[in-house]
Amino acid sequence: MMGLGFVPIFSLALLVSISSAEISNKVGINYGQLGNNLPSPSESVELIKSLKAKRVKIYDANPDILKSLKDTDIQVSIMIPNELIQNISKSQSLSDHWVKTNVVPYYSDVKIRYLLVGNEILTNPDTGTWFNLVPAMRRIKASLKSHKIKKIKVGTTSAINVLESSFPPSNGTFRSDISGPIIKPMLRFLDRTKSFFFIDVYPYFAWADNYKNINLDYALFKAKNLTYTDPGTNLTYTNLLDQMLDAVVFAMKRLGYPGVRLFIAETGWPNDGDIDQIGANIYNSATFNRNVVKKLTTKPAIGTPARPGWVIPSIIFALYNENQKPGPGTERHFGLLYPNGTKIYEIDLSGDTPLSEYKKPLPAPTNNEPYKGKIWCMVAKGVNETAVRDALSYACSQGNGTCDAIQTGKKCYKPDSLFWHASYAFSSYWAQFKKSGGTCSFNGLATMTPKDPSFGHCKFPGVTL
Ligand SMILES: *[C@@H]1O[C@H](CO)[C@@H](O)[C@H](O)[C@H]1NC(C)=O
Ligand SMILES: *[C@@H]1O[C@H](CO)[C@@H](O)[C@H](O)[C@H]1NC(C)=O
Ligand SMILES: *[C@@H]1O[C@H](CO)[C@@H](O)[C@H](O)[C@H]1NC(C)=O
Ligand SMILES: *[C@@H]1O[C@H](CO)[C@@H](O)[C@H](O)[C@H]1NC(C)=O
Ligand SMILES: *[C@@H]1O[C@H](CO)[C@@H](O)[C@H](O)[C@H]1NC(C)=O
Ligand SMILES: *[C@@H]1O[C@H](CO)[C@@H](O)[C@H](O)[C@H]1NC(C)=O
Ligand SMILES: *[C@@H]1O[C@H](CO)[C@@H](O)[C@H](O)[C@H]1NC(C)=O
Repeated sequence: MMGLGFVPIFSLALLVSISSAEISNKVGINYGQLGNNLPSPSESVELIKSLKAKRVKIYDANPDILKSLKDTDIQVSIMIPNELIQNISKSQSLSDHWVKTNVVPYYSDVKIRYLLVGNEILTNPDTGTWFNLVPAMRRIKASLKSHKIKKIKVGTTSAINVLESSFPPSNGTFRSDISGPIIKPMLRFLDRTKSFFFIDVYPYFAWADNYKNINLDYALFKAKNLTYTDPGTNLTYTNLLDQMLDAVVFAMKRLGYPGVRLFIAETGWPNDGDIDQIGANIYNSATFNRNVVKKLTTKPAIGTPARPGWVIPSIIFALYNENQKPGPGTERHFGLLYPNGTKIYEIDLSGDTPLSEYKKPLPAPTNNEPYKGKIWCMVAKGVNETAVRDALSYACSQGNGTCDAIQTGKKCYKPDSLFWHASYAFSSYWAQFKKSGGTCSFNGLATMTPKDPSFGHCKFPGVTL
């Protein structure tokens, strides 16, 4: 009797654990490698475990990383680099070869569960590849099938700007240039293969672009009695992330795919940034990441107002501050860890640590309001001299008069050093071209300073914020 009763209960439990394993609400970490000072793959995997990440996403299929993930319980997401998509879309044998080389050798020991075809392709200016995307996804799926690999879901990551409208959430609509020709067949593929719509979703950027109208606490899951009710649905929102996710849900519904599941491929909040970037600090980063982990790991799942109770598998961006990421300063400061492996603030991605147990005080934020004052653009510390030389001639070739003051005998000629000449050129270039979109970045060679570098008769042009 006992035996007979035991068997069905046991199989039921097994069944439940299998299906929930497939779509568990565990949180993971994006392991980006765009730094020249990062720990080795094996050290990194130990750090990933110490953060209690249950998933990891990498931006390629790096064999050293995959080897280091052997026999761990971490679910792994690998990626086909953007450059390969066009060729793979046109050749089944190339697709087969990629899977045979990058997946098959690891699949038995490494829990590879997601294979992403490209990174934010539909935001990439190379529009030619857009049309290769879904065909490449189909080919990769077929290659996996031919190797009888069933546990790997195939998808691709999208930035939130695949939407042309996201507010109110019920008005969520895909961009008209991609909606019919690309998104619709993609959703058909994702629906048929029970995969996910992988979305990179950053309340930070939405808030920073519109900080006058969006309450910071609402973006940080801290607004106690601030809600927004969508007039189109009467659904009530308590945070910005839910709004952004539901905008995608309604956009998919509009195209006839109301059931495709969401997977947060990236979310996070920068712990630092440039002087002209608002709200990028350790306090906000810790608050966002801790709160988002809590929301996403709560059991039973919370979901969103449009999809209450739905599990949303998620991956935080990112493991490290990556010093070689191009773009504004925030790009290089999304890490949970410094490059030396030290946590920037306490965080436990399993969600098992209650918020009240994060005891170490966080530094008070000082840049939650926009910076007001004059700033200059200087050569950053410890950067490649050859690259600075190239950037100097680039800056000087752009404008009439940008570099007049550093010509022989002119007011800023002395000291005749690369640092001072390039810093002058960067400041002068930025002052002249900020209006038309010029930035103080120079591929990470430049940094902003509120301290006037002018000396003697040499006056550095500055930008007033
Ligand atoms: C794609 O295929 C073309 C033609 O065979 C080849 O020249 C090119 O190098 C390939 N591109 C990549 C990124 O492998
Ligand atoms: C809804 O989205 C469309 C574009 O898809 C936009 O033109 C319109 O202004 C949006 N409606 C509201 C109320 O924001
Ligand atoms: C909540 O609302 C009350 C009254 O509307 C207001 O006084 C209070 O400051 C609000 N609390 C927060 C945390 O926003
Ligand atoms: C929202 O609620 C209001 C007031 O209860 C009601 O008049 C309206 O029809 C509702 N709208 C929707 C879309 O359900
Ligand atoms: C790691 O790097 C951070 C930031 O540079 C620094 O504050 C910290 O002291 C370093 N920790 C160790 C153990 O080196
Ligand atoms: C320095 O920059 C130059 C030009 O951009 C590049 O060719 C060179 O490889 C760089 N050197 C190092 C050590 O990164
Ligand atoms: C710089 O060049 C632009 C475009 O060629 C011109 O409109 C502008 O007047 C020039 N400015 C100076 C200071 O020469």
